[in-house]
Amino acid sequence: MGKKTETVFLEESEKKVFKLNVDGQDVAVTEGTSVFDAVKKVGVQLPAMCYHYSFSPFGSCGICLVEIEGKGNNVRSCTAKSADGMVVRTNTDKMVTARKTAVEKWLIIHPLDCPVCDADGKCELQDLTYDLGVYDIKKGVKKEVPEDTRSPVLDFNMERCILCGQCINICKEVQEIDALAFYKKDGKTLVGAHDGVPLDCEFCGDCLAVCPVGAITSRFSKYAYKPWQLKKTQTTCTYCSDGCEITLETEGSKILRVTSRLSYLNKFGMEAQQGDGHGGLCVRGRFGFQFVNSAKRLSRPLAKIDGKQVEVPWFKVLPQIGRKLMEIKNQYGGGAIAGLISGRCTNEDVYLFQKMMRTICGTNNIDTAARYGHINSVLAMQYALGIGRSTTSYKQITLSDVILLVGSNITETNPVASLRIKEAKNKFGAKVIVADPFQTNMMKLATHPLQISFASSSALMQGMMKAIIENKWVYQPFIDQYPNAYETLCSAMLSISQQEITQKCGVAWEKIAEAAQLIAQSKRGTLIWGEGIVSEAGGWDNMLSLIDLALLCGLLEKPGGGIHPVCEENNEQGAVDMGGVCEFLPGQIPYHDGKERFEALWSKPLPNGVGLSLPKIIEKALRGEIKAIYIVGENPLETLPDSMKVREALQKIDLIICQDPFLTQTGKIADFVLPATTFAEKEGTFTNMEGALRHVRNALDPIGESRTDFKIFSDLSKQMGGDAYRAPEEITAEIDACVNGYYNGERLQGNPHQLVHYLGNGFAEEVVKRYAQIGQVQDGLGAASSAPMSGFNQRSVEGATQAPLVAQLVLGQSIYHSGKLSTQDEGLMKIYNKPTLRMSEADAEALELKTDDWVRVKSEQGAVELAMAILPSLPKGIVWFPEHFATLKDLMTVVVDSKTDVPYFKSGLVSIKKVPLFDLKVI
Ligand code: SF4
Ligand code: SF4
Ligand code: SF4
Ligand code: FES
Repeated sequence: MGKKTETVFLEESEKKVFKLNVDGQDVAVTEGTSVFDAVKKVGVQLPAMCYHYSFSPFGSCGICLVEIEGKGNNVRSCTAKSADGMVVRTNTDKMVTARKTAVEKWLIIHPLDCPVCDADGKCELQDLTYDLGVYDIKKGVKKEVPEDTRSPVLDFNMERCILCGQCINICKEVQEIDALAFYKKDGKTLVGAHDGVPLDCEFCGDCLAVCPVGAITSRFSKYAYKPWQLKKTQTTCTYCSDGCEITLETEGSKILRVTSRLSYLNKFGMEAQQGDGHGGLCVRGRFGFQFVNSAKRLSRPLAKIDGKQVEVPWFKVLPQIGRKLMEIKNQYGGGAIAGLISGRCTNEDVYLFQKMMRTICGTNNIDTAARYGHINSVLAMQYALGIGRSTTSYKQITLSDVILLVGSNITETNPVASLRIKEAKNKFGAKVIVADPFQTNMMKLATHPLQISFASSSALMQGMMKAIIENKWVYQPFIDQYPNAYETLCSAMLSISQQEITQKCGVAWEKIAEAAQLIAQSKRGTLIWGEGIVSEAGGWDNMLSLIDLALLCGLLEKPGGGIHPVCEENNEQGAVDMGGVCEFLPGQIPYHDGKERFEALWSKPLPNGVGLSLPKIIEKALRGEIKAIYIVGENPLETLPDSMKVREALQKIDLIICQDPFLTQTGKIADFVLPATTFAEKEGTFTNMEGALRHVRNALDPIGESRTDFKIFSDLSKQMGGDAYRAPEEITAEIDACVNGYYNGERLQGNPHQLVHYLGNGFAEEVVKRYAQIGQVQDGLGAASSAPMSGFNQRSVEGATQAPLVAQLVLGQSIYHSGKLSTQDEGLMKIYNKPTLRMSEADAEALELKTDDWVRVKSEQGAVELAMAILPSLPKGIVWFPEHFATLKDLMTVVVDSKTDVPYFKSGLVSIKKVPLFDLKVI
């Protein structure tokens, strides 16, 4: 099967072509093109205020006026459609005057409080006033509308509103949230949440970004700046793997606001940018910047002296750490040392860390945050396809004709990527199939929602494959090239009946078959999956089922199609690419395959033997065989449940080094704590979920005495006799030498022959085993948690006055947070800081609960009391809690994947009962 690469644009060929004359020049456009866009084609950019290319024209401002022969003057070009033979004039005296009059009209109802307006200097009304030469500003009448400051972050100053509708339209059409509307109050038209209630939305801030004046402002930066005074640094968001480009706007050592392409008048983009994204951000990227300037940041190194952590200077602490690491290596061997690095560090940081650990400390016990789930995607894709990354791109996803989203609440985890799915559906007519146990935002918007039972996605995959095979919708080149593999899959799919599948999935067979047909017969279909697959028990097997489905549908070959994992932290993909896991050397080279090559490149011997993943490091530490651990930006004590015995394991380790911008729970028990900078104070690159490089640029000098991770590793390496580096560029050159093309826009290349291996020897036995398991152990419900839990007798719950509810507790992600980092951010914590246990209406009713009541949640591991809230979209029998807060994680039991060592602990059975008010203990 051949390889496909190029992006496919939608064909316009079926549309009629119209010829227009604009200011004497002929221009051809397709049917449906606005006059505004037709005019742009001859190189004339009409002034406009309410227009934005990313949503439908609204036609409210009256600035984009043109003359059209036969239609008269003052035609609003943004809403007028082109017609064959149309004659358009843009620059007559009448039009110039009419546009001026329109601006004057807006100035009259505007307060002109520019000196105290946050938009002063970056205001479209100011710009148009100047550009169109409006010098006679008539005195207007104040609307006398008090500012609406009821939302946690966005303030609405309706004195300044010019009713352009852009905020409403971007929220409705791009975000598909529809949180804003015009409403009437005291005879005045205002903008705000529907019916004038306080705004409670995703707080992406896109409305703020497109507001042409200063009518919507951010409470976090209000009155703090004039736009032109701020230093602007283009960098990459540090939260999720979408890798959005952001602009940090700073004054001195402080970030005052975050903007993006959307804030800087990209309103005139058109077809050339089809599929390029609208340039907006999500709440985390736009408002989660305050952690950088947090007073809680560490500013000096700490060392434990007589059991207490005290500040020590850098010049003392690094030699001490270097000496202790070398002593341990000499006494116990490198295998007694382990390293754990965050998926938020740059590629250059991870590269240097793993090189230091391998070549100087002599250990291959290295891991990163990808172990919490994404490694399932990487290892399964490597195993089957020879490449552990997305095979598509954001643009191709936007232009897909069918998208199948499985096990991913992508709106919450990767909000800007989710907009691409919405755009694919709304703008380009894609069919969107969403398979998930939860009624997620994407499920509500999907053209083909499949709300399956909890832990049944593997059965669904099998059902879809069965339907595809039985109905002969299989991608023919797959059958031609891999007839044996095809036969194997046919037999496996026949072994399970439609009834069994529908029973397991809780979805009618016709719906499964309809979705299967759509994805199988797609021209450029995309399969996307997320945490609901990779972080739940059975992740490895489920990943391979997804790949089998993609092969049957030809998604890996059809131009414009592909498969795309999504993961949480911004650089999990890069951390794996850079060798931040024990399985791989840089370039995702399997450790044993690349050992000799890297020994030659680095002129140092590398440790023998397979290194240890995080769960295995913990196991070995519990046996007293790990003597030192170096933890960078990770916080296993707060991430992993108690049942994994992390504290006990760490207590047995002689030397714990923590490097982090904050003093974490793990940092508090460390022997040395090194203050690292945040992304805003460093240079380097992240690799986003497309596998594309994103630049990270320092907007600020390091705060206090904090140092970049790169500098700390470099200085420490030198202390231990390794290489010292002066700047990240030196690392860049080294990475370039060992991972060809990584900095050239070429994505990591894999082994093209791997698919032949995967589908060759052993495939038949593997498939029989894998699909036979579907009937027994379902994903998301591992052996440990699927059986009724011992000691879980409903009657045994102490003091119960009513039978407790037994439910599946799921720890999931919230849009307002990312990992634990966001809980350090004052801004995001202002928006969302009181996590509650979410329950369905039916479950709440069964326990006679109403929102804000308290419940006792109990598992084999312990019990916790907390407030609950009703979430009507939750299925009965499932309760949900945001994983960013550690409140409930210690109730979870851990099951470690035998193939990939991913620790599964995001779901498990609990019992829940109401806590009567008089019993309430404040925790
Ligand atoms: S912040 Fe985002 S979700 Fe909220 S109203 Fe504005 S555009 Fe809509
Ligand atoms: S708040 Fe801003 S974007 Fe919204 S209608 Fe008013 S001026 Fe336009
Ligand atoms: S979608 Fe992800 S990368 Fe983009 S702004 Fe939000 S958190 Fe940052
Ligand atoms: S841009 Fe056309 S009416 Fe506003």
